[in-house]
Amino acid sequence: MTDLFSKFDPLIQQRENLLATGVRDPFSLVMEEVKSPTVAVCNGRETILLGTYNYMGMTFDPDVIEAGKKAFDEFGAGTTGSRVLNGTFRDHRDVEEALKEFYAMDHAMVFSTGYQANLGIISTIAGKGDYIILDIDSHASIYDGCKMGDAEVVAFRHNDVEALEKRLKRLPPEAGKLVVLEGVYSMLGDVAPLKEMIRVSKEAGAMVLVDEAHSMGFIGEHGRGVAEEQGVIDDVDFIIGTFSKSVGTVGGFCVSNHPKFEVMRLVCRPYVFTAALPPSVMASSATSIRKLMHGSNKRAHLWENSKTLHKGLRDLGFKLGTETPQSAIIAVIMPDLERGAMMWEALLDNGLYVNLARPPATPAGMTLLRCSLCAEHTSEQVADILKRFAIAGRATGIIS
Ligand SMILES: Cc1ncc(COP(=O)(O)O)c(C=O)c1O
Repeated sequence: MTDLFSKFDPLIQQRENLLATGVRDPFSLVMEEVKSPTVAVCNGRETILLGTYNYMGMTFDPDVIEAGKKAFDEFGAGTTGSRVLNGTFRDHRDVEEALKEFYAMDHAMVFSTGYQANLGIISTIAGKGDYIILDIDSHASIYDGCKMGDAEVVAFRHNDVEALEKRLKRLPPEAGKLVVLEGVYSMLGDVAPLKEMIRVSKEAGAMVLVDEAHSMGFIGEHGRGVAEEQGVIDDVDFIIGTFSKSVGTVGGFCVSNHPKFEVMRLVCRPYVFTAALPPSVMASSATSIRKLMHGSNKRAHLWENSKTLHKGLRDLGFKLGTETPQSAIIAVIMPDLERGAMMWEALLDNGLYVNLARPPATPAGMTLLRCSLCAEHTSEQVADILKRFAIAGRATGIIS
């Protein structure tokens, strides 16, 4: 018998080697108490959170919590059914209304996660004989959506407009084409040149899907994302998003102005063949989305935090993923996995949590310490974060 697990041996070995150096197992890290969107007790130690996607700090918003509690009492713990059967409750409808208001679009469809939204929409709209043209650094859920469908997949160099245009020109003019882009790329926190990319896509007769998971609520005048910021939201055919970041709950969605969009509810398997989210989550999400429409003060403070952290880390001598702060994600590039893990551990010992990211999630084989800021981080906390980076960076020899 061939042990089907033997293919994982190199990974198991690499992990054991890393743990032998004294770095803790990331899965052993437990949040025992969460005091606020920015502070938790992790394994007995009070820790500043700089690795959540809680960009707008909505997890502890009193109205968001209250709406969830009320729906929990009125509708019970779960739906026990698909949206297509018994799983459409008042708050599923309401959250879809809130999304339509937020994006000023005609249609909104909620999925159980953002992962499933990409899986479902991409695999369903691009079929046999069609082409999906995607940025090579796309999120795993985009790749998995491509794998699940029957379309031909063509990748182009990250954020390279010319490469996208060249690929598009090589495809049969009459074939169906879906260009898949992200507003903010979550590993380095860099923003896509959507304006130019959408222009060349439209010239080639392609439909465009933009995943705005990391920009919703924060980027653009109304927080609609990078497409809004760059003035091209009306040319986007499908926006994918998630509730697990700025909204502060869980769930995924697609919004669109396509007149036939509602047919998706019948044909999109990751929507049809899974249980609908609990009404409490939907009620919390709807409240959060509506509050995010009026979040301009919070957005301004989050930009301040992002700029301060980016400058502070660069001044300390760290190598960063972007020349300028482009989003709420600041990626610190580590020399290698071993030293990255050591630095991650040293930060935790100093009461600071960041994300340790490594291939295959990261581009170009990089090890990153990804910092994601929250609008609830105070200026004092950001200063404190920089001090902790300085101590850990010197202790590990990553900066001098
Ligand atoms: C770009 C992008 N799309 C989709 C997702 C999936 O979102 P969810 O957590 O709701 O599954 C993520 C999650 O990190 C993401 O970064």
